[in-house]
Amino acid sequence: MLTRTKRTLLKAQKGGYAVGAFNINNMEIAHAIVEAAEREKAPVICQTSEGSLAYAGMDMLLAIGRQLGHASKVPVSLHLDHGTHLEVVREAIRAGYQSVMYDGSAHPFGRNVERTRAVVTLAHARGVSVEAELGAIAGIEDFVSVKQRNARLTNPERAREFVKKTKCDFLAVAIGTSHGAYKFKGRSRLDLSRLKEIRARVRVPLVLHGASSVPKSLVKTIEKHGGTLGEPMGVSDFDLRSAVKNGICKVNTDTDVRLAFTAGIRKVLKQEPDEFDPRKLLAPAYEEMVSIIRWKIRLLGSSGKA
Ligand code: G3H
Ligand code: 13P
Ligand code: ZN
Repeated sequence: MLTRTKRTLLKAQKGGYAVGAFNINNMEIAHAIVEAAEREKAPVICQTSEGSLAYAGMDMLLAIGRQLGHASKVPVSLHLDHGTHLEVVREAIRAGYQSVMYDGSAHPFGRNVERTRAVVTLAHARGVSVEAELGAIAGIEDFVSVKQRNARLTNPERAREFVKKTKCDFLAVAIGTSHGAYKFKGRSRLDLSRLKEIRARVRVPLVLHGASSVPKSLVKTIEKHGGTLGEPMGVSDFDLRSAVKNGICKVNTDTDVRLAFTAGIRKVLKQEPDEFDPRKLLAPAYEEMVSIIRWKIRLLGSSGKA
């Protein structure tokens, strides 16, 4: 059933687990997410980025998400991911998403507060909840010095002030992750003490972006069947579990699903070069996606929480 994101995340916060938020770009990905959530009896969030909206259109992705959500036995919420353009955020609020992210993190603090507050007023009038972001979601390795890194990761005191002023419902924090498959060099590290300090000051559910684990098994499958990925590296299982223990309630994952999709496609194209029925070519990608999403849901502790 379609469910309010806020209800799902407040329940997760109370229960000490996190809900998986996975990006959708087409029917197969959305279907795999809901299927995985059903098999795990877990609540789930399907989210669309501005990029996915440019690719498939808001009406199309909303229709797919709504159809799957209505037909599903588990709570499904539709969320706008990284809304940076106010007109897209407004459109999503009017179109019926259960929640939107307004990402004003590229702006100075004051302007981020002002714009987020305006989005919150509009969204709350329509019963839509708002995720906001403070700090820069980039890898620790992207910062040259410790001083520079500290200036870009979420400041706990600023987070308290930001939530109070904006009245946002969820807060995305920068604690060392980055988007994509190359988050760290050497060893995966999250700034968990910073997360604890934020948690002590902020009551709303916290969100972790850039949470893909980049499983070695998928990387191997892709490389075995002709792909070249170099040395990707994601968030470790230990760090992810620790982040959830310390207040993360929504975990955003896109790259892992992309890797699973690619692994399935590469495998079938190489193993069955005479196959040209798209349904048969997409079936292994679907199975790979369902299996990685189920694993991720279990890691977050939301299995059985529907
Ligand atoms: O946060 C980023 C997500 O992976 C979405 O990526 O903008 O390429 O759709 P995208
Ligand atoms: P990954 O690139 O780690 O999957 O992060 C996705 C994300 O944060 C979407 O908002
Ligand atoms: Zn993100």
